[in-house]
Amino acid sequence: MQGAAVVVQGLRHWFATRTGPLTVLDGVDLHLPAGGYASLVGPSGAGKSTLLSILGGLELAQEGTVEVGGERLAGLSRDDLAAFRRSTVGFVFQHFGLLDALTAAENIDVTGALTGVPRKQRRARTLELLDAVGLADRADHRPIELSGGERQRVAIARALANQPRIVLADEPTGNLDDDSTLLVVDLLETLPQRLGCTLVVVTHDRALAARAPLRLRLRDRRLEADADPVAAPASAVPAAAP
Ligand SMILES: Nc1ncnc2c1ncn2[C@@H]1O[C@H](COP(=O)(O)OP(=O)(O)OP(=O)(O)O)[C@@H](O)[C@H]1O
Ligand SMILES: [Mg+2]
Repeated sequence: MQGAAVVVQGLRHWFATRTGPLTVLDGVDLHLPAGGYASLVGPSGAGKSTLLSILGGLELAQEGTVEVGGERLAGLSRDDLAAFRRSTVGFVFQHFGLLDALTAAENIDVTGALTGVPRKQRRARTLELLDAVGLADRADHRPIELSGGERQRVAIARALANQPRIVLADEPTGNLDDDSTLLVVDLLETLPQRLGCTLVVVTHDRALAARAPLRLRLRDRRLEADADPVAAPASAVPAAAP
């Protein structure tokens, strides 16, 4: 895959609140190559989840350019945004977001079912994904019958089911113990190279953030290179403001 996976320019976003507009992002610029891997840190309330929601087409930016996987998101209808998410984005959340009533395999299968992939093809893909996350022998377990780390690995498999060009993970290890964190991080980090997708990981975990080749921080409503002297040498630079 060639070229930029994410181009954001002059992004501004605010929420309407009872006391007036609350501006969360103001002048955010970002350029991520296909196959890139970026971590994103910042204090609670800085707007990290909001930015991921915008990149993933869950929320439309109020101002600025947002292009993901070659698609310009401004002005897309709700249906087109939903289609964009289904075809282009894989989401991984802190609380896994698995459906309790479904098995691991069925949770993964839902994505393919939504995009109209034939059942037989879906089945093969699901088994392949379960195998890839090391859970081939847990296909018939429901979420309650899985450990936290296993649940997150199922959620990652689900996020990959539509062969996304971008994977957005919001505190994916926030609910995991140290061992599970390592497994999940090892798995996530291989995705850009193995699948050519672009990965953005929001985290409060400094060690995890430091492992990404591009380290970003949200501060004062803008993106900047994460300037942790221990963790971040100079290569982390968001796109310069136009
Ligand atoms: N729908 C909304 N309406 C109004 N305000 C919102 C809405 N969603 C988020 N906010 C506010 O926007 C700010 C940014 O929220 P966001 O969830 O992006 O922060 P965050 O950086 O992900 O924080 P955390 O690390 O705690 O997850 C917060 O102050 C939050 O209260
Ligand atoms: Mg958040």
